[in-house]
Amino acid sequence: MTMVINNKGHGIQSQKRDQSESAEKFAMHIAMTAESLKKLKAEGLYYEYTKAADPVGSGVISSVPYAEFSGALHQGDKTELIPLDVSEALGCEGPATSPALCANFVHILPNEKLTTSFNATSQLIYVIRGSGTTLFSGDSIPYRTGDFLVLPLGSETTHVADADTAFYLVHDEPLLRYLGAEAKYPRFKPTLYSSEDSLKELARVEQDGESVNRSRVSILLANKEMDQTLTVTHTLWAMLGVLPKGTVQLPHRHQSVALDLILDCEPGCYSLVGSKIDSDGKIIDPKRVDWQPYSAFITPPGYWHAHHNESGKKAHLIPMQDAGLHTYLRSLDIRFVLPKT
Ligand SMILES: [Fe+2]
Repeated sequence: MTMVINNKGHGIQSQKRDQSESAEKFAMHIAMTAESLKKLKAEGLYYEYTKAADPVGSGVISSVPYAEFSGALHQGDKTELIPLDVSEALGCEGPATSPALCANFVHILPNEKLTTSFNATSQLIYVIRGSGTTLFSGDSIPYRTGDFLVLPLGSETTHVADADTAFYLVHDEPLLRYLGAEAKYPRFKPTLYSSEDSLKELARVEQDGESVNRSRVSILLANKEMDQTLTVTHTLWAMLGVLPKGTVQLPHRHQSVALDLILDCEPGCYSLVGSKIDSDGKIIDPKRVDWQPYSAFITPPGYWHAHHNESGKKAHLIPMQDAGLHTYLRSLDIRFVLPKT
């Protein structure tokens, strides 16, 4: 404060008044700081290390559950979005199919449309059946059976169906909800992987002489923008695989969750899933998941899984995962049981 002192001492009185005012303000500030500090400390906790080092192991946070979702869900009599929701088992706000992802069936009757709006960084759509047009951010994108359509952001998207249409649609809104974040900036361009192109690529891998020596015959969808993770988006991962008749895809495991969509299959196709393998690479005490055409199931993170085809016909599957994110975090930890030589 600027003060002029005159020869009658008025300046001294003014100085005293100012000092008293600022002492009052300082006292108030101290009181407010004490209150603020109390508030700032109110939510904090301390745990002894062993009590909190492994919340999953101790059961404080739930494991990702096994769950199966019948293909009958996308064959109802109305146009609808059907979230494959296990949020209650996960103990999180729903809908969610894993902590980071939400898988959905979408059913659109002929000549009807469905509009969605997710707070997501990535939407990955596989067209189970049907055809039509997707309207996204000023683009009109045609789709038909067997296409994959990948969209950045989940903002308003309208799907118009020319024929009875079903999608398998996975997005990452649960991750953003957990982070308290809003997806604002697209990280890649809308991308179409047509049925024709993806099946041609798969056939190329299948016909490769080396494929008989591989435990899995499949292609991974990728995007030029994801030149470090080699995945379909920065959070998502998608595979199109074929399981030839009479074959076994040996066990493997990874820390990403797999939200598996089964395509065509005959009875005798199944997956074995379990938390441990023995010294011969066999899954100990596995859970058997019998495949049903155009149905879905969850393979929890960290679990060994092997696919078996004891039918007389080849089968196809599309696992979608949060492996884009895990790969970026260097936490994927993928491991394989290798064929015995
Ligand atoms: Fe897997």
